[in-house]
Amino acid sequence: MIAIASDHAGIALKTDICRFLQSFGFEVEDLGPEDTLSVDYPDYAHLLARAVSDGRIERGILVCGTGIGMSMAANRHPGVRAALCHDAYTAEMARRHNDANVLCIGARAIGGGVAEQIVRIFAETPFEGDRHQRRVNKIEWEES
Ligand code: RB5
Repeated sequence: MIAIASDHAGIALKTDICRFLQSFGFEVEDLGPEDTLSVDYPDYAHLLARAVSDGRIERGILVCGTGIGMSMAANRHPGVRAALCHDAYTAEMARRHNDANVLCIGARAIGGGVAEQIVRIFAETPFEGDRHQRRVNKIEWEES
């Protein structure tokens, strides 16, 4: 199960990604929006990131124009590791080394083919653990 949300700039790609994920067997929860009216990306980033942070969903995908605003907002939530990926390499490393649980995509920055490649890698690549687990544990900031 993967949840997905976007803003108006990302909605067309969101629809394509939903179809793409379903075509290779994933159940997708679409958290909106449902039309192309202008919306504020943090509203959708927080909606999805809260669900990941609470443990209600394991993985999420956020799509806006650049992916930047979505990643900034999502990463404010404890336990959320949102990665803005532009290509196959960054998507693979985001999973292998960073155990990214939210993928952010810039619909205006990359083409549909690359987006599908990134999504597939994000959905299928395992975390390597080991020394990367120690580093991922240090991402959560605690005032000492
Ligand atoms: C909307 O115009 C645009 O600012 C938004 O989609 C996103 O790129 C923000 O980071």
